[in-house]
Amino acid sequence: MLPEGFDMISPGPDRLAEVLELDRWAFPTTDALEDLLAVPSPLTWERTRAVIRSGRPEELVALRASYPFGHCPVPGGRLKVAGLTWVGVHPQWRRRGLLSAMIAEHFAHCHDRDEPVSLLFAAEAGIYGRFGYGLASRQVNLTLPRRAALRDLPGTEDLEVRIEKLSPERHGGLIARLHGAVERPGWVTRETPELAAMWLCDAPIFRHGSEEQRILVVERAGEPVGYALFRPKGTWGPAGPDGSVGVTEAVASDPAVA
Ligand SMILES: CC(C)(COP(=O)(O)OP(=O)(O)OC[C@H]1O[C@@H](n2cnc3c(N)ncnc32)[C@H](O)[C@@H]1OP(=O)(O)O)[C@@H](O)C(=O)NCCC(=O)NCCS
Repeated sequence: MLPEGFDMISPGPDRLAEVLELDRWAFPTTDALEDLLAVPSPLTWERTRAVIRSGRPEELVALRASYPFGHCPVPGGRLKVAGLTWVGVHPQWRRRGLLSAMIAEHFAHCHDRDEPVSLLFAAEAGIYGRFGYGLASRQVNLTLPRRAALRDLPGTEDLEVRIEKLSPERHGGLIARLHGAVERPGWVTRETPELAAMWLCDAPIFRHGSEEQRILVVERAGEPVGYALFRPKGTWGPAGPDGSVGVTEAVASDPAVA
């Protein structure tokens, strides 16, 4: 339940600038508001809720939203899952129960929508256990040096690789198909057009000094069976080129493709 003096509202896309401002209070960033406004918003507006002070609808003090993941892989199958996201409370209004009230409403909405599971990427692991969330999967980051020793795997002979500049029009379909086909529990689907548009947007604020987004497509008998999205970063050290390649997403149908 919301503490006294606060109400919950459903902001629409016309309030995107305020939503972004509030998000900047929650997650400090050097990105300018105009730059954030210029990229596609991933929000599903009918699942976006804000807290206001009673009688002050013009000022958003807290926010939460959720993404509809209709076919999320879980052990044994796929389920409707609510992806909790954009959780933030303005610093002035913290530690008075707004997060607790937002989570309670989120769970009530999950129940109403027949979404038995809610997942999130927790900014801080310590926040969400009290609400019933637990560790569902681990993230593994891998840094490979140049000339890393790689082993041959059976099945690589008939694969072809092409490397291109990422084009949402040209590659959006194959990315959606291969990404949506991954069955591994812990994999989070990307099912709304808003999420897909944001993910494939290559605005400079997403590059952090790297080049434009590229894609490597792996094909078997002319059919795409895997891809990697990546951005090369060209830097020079005292001994010459010292660049790196950052892979933002990799999908492979089998170990040989990976
Ligand atoms: C985290 C945040 C949303 C908490 O909002 P809030 O309205 O102050 O939280 P509440 O007052 O409802 O607190 C709920 C409970 O969580 C606890 N809590 C709040 N923030 C916490 C934190 N960072 N770590 C651990 N526990 C926390 C509170 O102590 C309270 O515990 P209690 O029920 O035992 O009293 C807010 O501090 C915030 O916006 N932080 C920056 C953005 C962020 O981290 N968002 C979460 C992203 S996944």
